[in-house]
Amino acid sequence: MLYLDRNENLYGPAPKCFEVLRSVTLEELSIYSRDFTRGVKSRLSERLANELGIPEPQILLSEGSEDMLKQAVHCYLGPGEKILCPDQSWWYYRAVASEVGGETVTYRLKRLSDRYSYDVGEMITLYEKISPRVVLIASPNNPTGNSFRDDDLQTLTEAFRESIVILDEAYWGFEEQANNRIAGLIGRYRNLLILRTFSKFYALAGARVGYAAAGASLSRLTRFASRYLGYNRISEELALAALDSPEYYDTIGRTMQSDRERFYEFFGRLSGTTCFRSQANFVLVRVPAEAVSPLRKFLSENGIAVKFFKEEEFKDCLRITLGTRDQNELVLTALDSFFRFEGGTSS
Ligand SMILES: Cc1ncc(COP(=O)(O)O)c(C=O)c1O
Repeated sequence: MLYLDRNENLYGPAPKCFEVLRSVTLEELSIYSRDFTRGVKSRLSERLANELGIPEPQILLSEGSEDMLKQAVHCYLGPGEKILCPDQSWWYYRAVASEVGGETVTYRLKRLSDRYSYDVGEMITLYEKISPRVVLIASPNNPTGNSFRDDDLQTLTEAFRESIVILDEAYWGFEEQANNRIAGLIGRYRNLLILRTFSKFYALAGARVGYAAAGASLSRLTRFASRYLGYNRISEELALAALDSPEYYDTIGRTMQSDRERFYEFFGRLSGTTCFRSQANFVLVRVPAEAVSPLRKFLSENGIAVKFFKEEEFKDCLRITLGTRDQNELVLTALDSFFRFEGGTSS
């Protein structure tokens, strides 16, 4: 089965990561890192702090960004308190809020002809009306693939100053790799938490490494998230090896950008379908409603798993994770034969 339903990076991690695995020593496995004796959490937090231009105490480490999101929501959202989230987004945002008895209020993304977009004005109006304790924004958003422009992000973080703002950047890297806006945002907005992960762009989902940059007022979370005995040393070594391999990942990023174009072109030729513009390693595609169920059957019979949805908004959509170039070719060929021969809309 080819799994294109979970937004993993199927190119796999950089060769340097495999060298790490080959050279793991007994000591690395059996001894705590003791990096705390140097006054830092770990070599990884130190490295990230240097790369991002943020003080090391404001870099938090976690087992993937799911873990940090959970910690942040559990730390700041109490029963009956409101969290403002995107309506069309990762299902887990609502689930984690309900774990603590929080009340989820959602803002809608606008569906334009070929992309989704945030409505910044409406988000602010809703924010002012409900005064949430926590606001969640995602860039790029899953499953719609759209991200924020820098100026919109500034406007929003400025408007949401009175709340804890969590910016989920799990899909950072596939569009642009520049890191320079984090330090400015974290310096200015003391309640802002930016979540990042090594799962997606760096293809290390199995190693479970995530991190966050935390604004200076989030000291409660900083204490909550700290681990006196250290973190997973092997996973951290893998993450460091990934950071040491920018050329490898730049190539993947560029290849995926041009592969996304292939998907836009393919669906652009198929009437009745829309492939929404994405800044992530997946594309959301709307197909004629009557094609959903045969398409699901066809793909699964052909060994291809993509994501179909239960939500009303996306019930005639599928989300396809971009694989390697060969895997993408295989999917496009399968889709072509489905739409050509299985009663799909003709080109
Ligand atoms: C929007 C979003 N955020 C966060 C995550 C969590 O990723 P991880 O816990 O592997 O870092 C995912 C996973 O698919 C996601 O789609």
